This record gives sequence, structure tokens and C-alpha cells, in this order.
Amino acid sequence: MWKFRDVISILDFTREDLEHLFSVTDKTLERSLDVGRPLDGKIVATAFIEPSTRTRLSFEAAAKKLGADVINLEPHLSSMAKGESLTDTLRMLDDYADLIVIRSPYEGSAKHAADVCEHPVINGGDGSQHHPTQAMIDLYTIRSLKGRIDGLEVGVVGDLKYGRAASSFIYGLTKFNVKRIWLISPEPLSPRPELMDRLRSMKVDIVKTEDLEEAIENVDILYVTRIQRERFPDPAEYEKVKGSYVITKKLLSRAREGLKVLHPLPRVDELSNDVDDTPYQAYFIQAKLGVPVRMALMGLILGAF
Ligand code: NCD
Repeated sequence: MWKFRDVISILDFTREDLEHLFSVTDKTLERSLDVGRPLDGKIVATAFIEPSTRTRLSFEAAAKKLGADVINLEPHLSSMAKGESLTDTLRMLDDYADLIVIRSPYEGSAKHAADVCEHPVINGGDGSQHHPTQAMIDLYTIRSLKGRIDGLEVGVVGDLKYGRAASSFIYGLTKFNVKRIWLISPEPLSPRPELMDRLRSMKVDIVKTEDLEEAIENVDILYVTRIQRERFPDPAEYEKVKGSYVITKKLLSRAREGLKVLHPLPRVDELSNDVDDTPYQAYFIQAKLGVPVRMALMGLILGAF
């Protein structure tokens, strides 16, 4: 079901696939991440041509915990700096590694990498399009904290247009039976038409609003995202929407009991530090769960589990 699969979009996976991943992640955690070295002798390559902290380092940590070696492409130190194409660079990585994790600013690049490479390719984020492994972590975090995903009301706030983590998370929610999804953004950062079409065709109950306070009173999960400054074609457009929403402890005093705040991180100004020490905070837990989820994922793909 998972062996040798590419991971390009969360939409390529069924609910059963995701539940299997989550149960393998549970087992990984039960064994305190000490699962032996089932990937001893394997090599994982990371090709990140866009900045990353959590995604790259948690893939690297996960691979090492499974006993694999990791090689990292450093774009500015590689022959890409001399003008070598991404395609030729990927061909080399495919010769050297058993699995390739790619992040790039270009939509479609992970799919292209999967077409070029014989070994499995995992999308660590391609432009504004997809970030499937982040969505897997997000869903696993909710399942861990709430015991279920079905039946919950989920709010997603911020940049729903350019944010690939937000889009992939919402696509991921459509694999489950959530009660309602609140889409909270300034109008110019509304979800893209293809995402809205999917929500409508799946008959998901959605509320599209700019009113964060009303949403906070109703949701069980609030997924906060950064406005993706680097993706705006026109800096003046960014200036119009920057700072649209700031989640603070005070604002959360209106929340339902048990509300959990998620954020794929990094945060800039949309999530106040004063939320960190409240029971709402789930974003550091979410970041930490990146390692066991990615261990389970790579272990499944490379046939170790
Ligand atoms: C996100 C990304 O790179 O898309 N971060 C992540 O992978 N955890 C979110 C963002 O950059 O805002």
C-alpha cells in the first residue's frame, strides 16, 4: 500500500492509507522512537532549494533514527550555482540515494522529480501547491490530541491562497468526516478555485468568513498560517493584507473548552508568544511529531515496516 510510492499530494492517499500511516506512527512512538536501524545501508537525499528548518531537519533526524545515511544538496554550493538544471541534478541524486525529499519554490517540481527519478520522491513543499507530509503531521496531531478527526469543527486562518500547508491540510481534512471547516482569510487570500471546487464536490460544510472572533467561538481546532510574503507577485498586495489576523491569548478567551491551536511554523506576527504557555498551544507538539510521522512514512516507503 505504501511501498515505493511517491508522495506528491495528500489527495493521492486514501483515508485507509493515512490511518495505516498513523498506526505505524503510534507504534514508533510507543517504542520511544527506538525502532532499531531498519534502514541501515540506505541513503536519503534532501534537495531543498528553498529555506526550511522543520521539514528538512525532521526528515534528516527521522532518517538517521532509522539508521539511514543522509546526503544534502546545498543548492548554492552545488553545480546548480553554475547553471546545472534541476533535472540533471535530480538524475544524480537518483543515482546516489534510495529516496529523495525535494522542496522547491516551483509548483509541479515534485511531480517532475518523480517522473525523472526511479527512486521514490517525497514532496517537502512545491511553491504554493502541496505540502503533503505537513498535512499528515497535522492530521496525526489532531488525532493524538482529540482522539479523532471526524466530527470536529476546524478553522483555518491566514493565507489560504498561497499557503501550501493550509491547502494540503484542508485537502487532508476532506479525507475525513469533519463537521465543518471555517475558512478565515482576507478576501484576496481566499482559497484557490480548485480547492473550493473540491470542498463543494465533497459536500463539506464550509463557512467562508473574515470574522475570526466568530470562528474562534465555534471551532475545536484553529490552524493558523503565516501570510506567505515571498509568494506575492506584487509587494503592494502584501502590504494590504499583512497583519490581518493576530491570534492572542486574549482573543482565545472566547474559545470553546479544549480548543487546540496548530501552526505549521514558522510564525512571524500572526501568532502571539503569549499563547505558548496556554493549554491551547499545540504547535510545538505538532512540530515534534514531525519526526515520528516522517519515520513511519520513510519506513513504509522503503519497506522497513
Ligand atoms: C511551511 C512551509 O514551508 O510551507 N512550513 C513548514 O514546512 N512547516 C509553512 C510556511 O512557510 O509558512
